[in-house]
Amino acid sequence: MIYNIDCIRGAKQYLDDESVDLIVTDPPYNLGFGGTTQTKTKRPRFEIIANDKLSHAEYQSFTYKWLSEAYRVLKIQCHIYVCIDWRMYPYMVLWMKKVGFIIKNCIVWDKQQMGMGWQYRFQHEFIIFAVKGSSNVRRIKSRKKIDIWRIPRISGNKMIHPTEKPESLMKEIIINSSEEGELVVDFFMGSGPVAISAAQTNRRFIGFEIDEKYFKIVEEKLR
Ligand SMILES: C[S@@+](CC[C@H](N)C(=O)[O-])C[C@H]1O[C@@H](n2cnc3c(N)ncnc32)[C@H](O)[C@@H]1O
Repeated sequence: MIYNIDCIRGAKQYLDDESVDLIVTDPPYNLGFGGTTQTKTKRPRFEIIANDKLSHAEYQSFTYKWLSEAYRVLKIQCHIYVCIDWRMYPYMVLWMKKVGFIIKNCIVWDKQQMGMGWQYRFQHEFIIFAVKGSSNVRRIKSRKKIDIWRIPRISGNKMIHPTEKPESLMKEIIINSSEEGELVVDFFMGSGPVAISAAQTNRRFIGFEIDEKYFKIVEEKLR
């Protein structure tokens, strides 16, 4: 089930308390990002994504609201993964702790290809891995998994969303932290890599996306 709706409203409307087995999400980082700049026109490839250019106070309030909903709906002992980059990482970790999550690790996604930046070009992002509850928390599938993941990013000219993540990245999370038939939720679907990965691995899925054009892309991909 996917909804073209604000995730905070969507969660209140469609998700019961402690009903979700896994949350995987990639929120706006508040960097005013519209994708890498095109070589010819010098313009960003896409429009700035929704809620990515707020004041710090507005962003904090928005983040608290969706994180509180995420905390409410996640089952005790289950996992949440939140994508973020180094600039917003300290805030996101702090806010996740404040709503009650216990931070377990930070996965470093090595995109295997350099991106933007001109003093040490960016090649990594973080994925915060946290749980709800402190005892008997769920374990990831294998004891041999490490916290650096080398998965190629989608190259600029193939992107259909400015912050598009590869499906293989999301599939790794879903397989490690949930079982077939369980419910996976994404609060910020974008172009839908979590939705597609959940469908391909036989999980149930609920996702929210506020921007109609991205919502339609996910709808089409799922069809
Ligand atoms: C960082 S992007 C996610 C990109 C996605 N991981 C992908 O690979 O395509 C965040 C997405 O959240 C959406 N968004 C922003 N505010 C939202 C809100 N309040 N509720 C639902 N979606 C929202 C944006 O339109 C954007 O597509």
